Amino acid sequence: MRLCVALDMASKDENLALVRELKGLDLWLKVGLRSYLRDGAKFIEELKGAGEFKIFLDLKLYDISNTMADAAEVVSKIGVDMINLHASAGERAMKTVMERLSSLQNRPLVLAVSALTSFSESEFEAVYNDTISRSVRKFSQMSFEAGLDGMVCSVFESKLIKEVTNQNFITLCPGVRPFGESAGDQKRVANLVSAKQEGSDFIVVGRPIYENANPREICERILEQI
Ligand code: C5P
Repeated sequence: MRLCVALDMASKDENLALVRELKGLDLWLKVGLRSYLRDGAKFIEELKGAGEFKIFLDLKLYDISNTMADAAEVVSKIGVDMINLHASAGERAMKTVMERLSSLQNRPLVLAVSALTSFSESEFEAVYNDTISRSVRKFSQMSFEAGLDGMVCSVFESKLIKEVTNQNFITLCPGVRPFGESAGDQKRVANLVSAKQEGSDFIVVGRPIYENANPREICERILEQI
């Protein structure tokens, strides 16, 4: 299991200061919408220069197939290690993205978002008119068929996804509260023990790390346990 730290702090300087504190640890860094929209590709370059970290650019692409493929190609060329898109964009859109990226010499891992971890069961059903578990099953099979590398999902869906696709199909799980910290806006949260039991390949942790008085120490404690 790998730890991915969400760089969701309010400013670029705060994110960079956090990354400097984490230097030397075996981590992935997740750059989200806010920092990418504000700080752009230059920020990614700065992160690459800050240590041996792998970078996950979490933009959750969702659009018509051709526009998604154009966007996926551009972000791949920035040289990040992982990107993602919404599975609900459909199998054809996902296939178009993967075909486009296959022409690149080095493509990033591509994951599909199944159900946002901030959705409760009833909120999800109000939008998708289906249960989370049935949709996750369907989205995972579609993403697998389209040639993606894995899914973004809650810890509780990790086992099911591997069962209906392949054990090597990656699961990356946000909504992790390693030692039972506050859930914030997340609805389907899990701790480290469950993430391990459920077979998550990556855990994404944001607030429990950057809101802690000693982010390096908490990362070290997590890394020890995984
Ligand atoms: O602070 P916290 O640990 O809740 O951060 C989780 C991160 O993972 C946030 O950056 C959030 O945007 C992202 N994420 C998520 N649920 C998804 C996909 C991404 O929480 N399904």
